Amino acid sequence: MSASPLIARTVPALRRAVDNLRKRKATIALVPTMGALHDGHVSLVRLAKRRASRVVVSIFVNPTQFAPTEDFGAYPRTWKSDIAKLAAEDVDIVWHPGVAAMYPEGFATRIAPEGPALAGLEDRFRPHFFGGVATVVGKLFTQVRPDVAIFGEKDFQQLRVVTQMARDLDLGVKVIGSRTVRERDGLAMSSRNVYLSPEERQTAIVLYRAMRESAGRIRAGDSIAPAMAGGADMVKAAGLVLDYYEVRHAETLAPVTSRKDGPLRILVAAKLGTTRLIDNMAV
Ligand code: PAJ
Repeated sequence: MSASPLIARTVPALRRAVDNLRKRKATIALVPTMGALHDGHVSLVRLAKRRASRVVVSIFVNPTQFAPTEDFGAYPRTWKSDIAKLAAEDVDIVWHPGVAAMYPEGFATRIAPEGPALAGLEDRFRPHFFGGVATVVGKLFTQVRPDVAIFGEKDFQQLRVVTQMARDLDLGVKVIGSRTVRERDGLAMSSRNVYLSPEERQTAIVLYRAMRESAGRIRAGDSIAPAMAGGADMVKAAGLVLDYYEVRHAETLAPVTSRKDGPLRILVAAKLGTTRLIDNMAV
């Protein structure tokens, strides 16, 4: 039997809980989430347990990273099953602030990330997004003051933005990336996959297949342009509407023209019906 995690809903309650762990010389890992937890999130918790003696998981659906037209209201909220999963992983603290605890009346400060946050990928289609993510993750880091924080490669540009921010603002948190967990057929796990109809769920596999095709061709020595065009065509032929299908430098996210330009990453975002999916793959 695992003990239930301590659930903190206010900053003072969180501080008390974290201070208690610190008194006992704990090292602390933070796993920020928006809940609706799946095996991808659980894999982050498991990595966190290997990197620190205690684990804090935050569950907060952050309004500032959603545009008014996006799915903030509809975003899946599955509190009971989330807590059961975190208890089974022996998580120590769940940080679950309400919107008013995170953004009290009169809140007026925002972190505006540049560099990887302006790479022309997600930021081109969700211009509000990384400002919202950086602000809330900056707050989570200063609220919890963890030694390390674990983020998924699934949100590859987000991982780069948060890493850069922690370094630029001397936040004293080591950001660690964790590999993407996929369904058996290759679809990256995502809280938003529940929006897909059974038919769309089948179609969604094309993102993984297309990236595998493009990555395979580039590795085999094909030029980047035709290898990427081939993958993009596969996605479009399956009926998805592409936001982007690009290969970038895996560290800087700068555009590349040749395999020799460095470690490469393919990144994709596409709409399938009303659901927007993102994924990426190392070349
Ligand atoms: P959320 O989408 O809940 O994701 C929380 C963390 O889980 C992120 O670091 C994300 O990259 C990771 N993750 C999601 N799917 C994954 C998968 N299939 N395999 C491995 N890791 C996966 O990302 C956010 O929340 C928010 O933007 C947040 C960082 C919490 C700020 O609000």
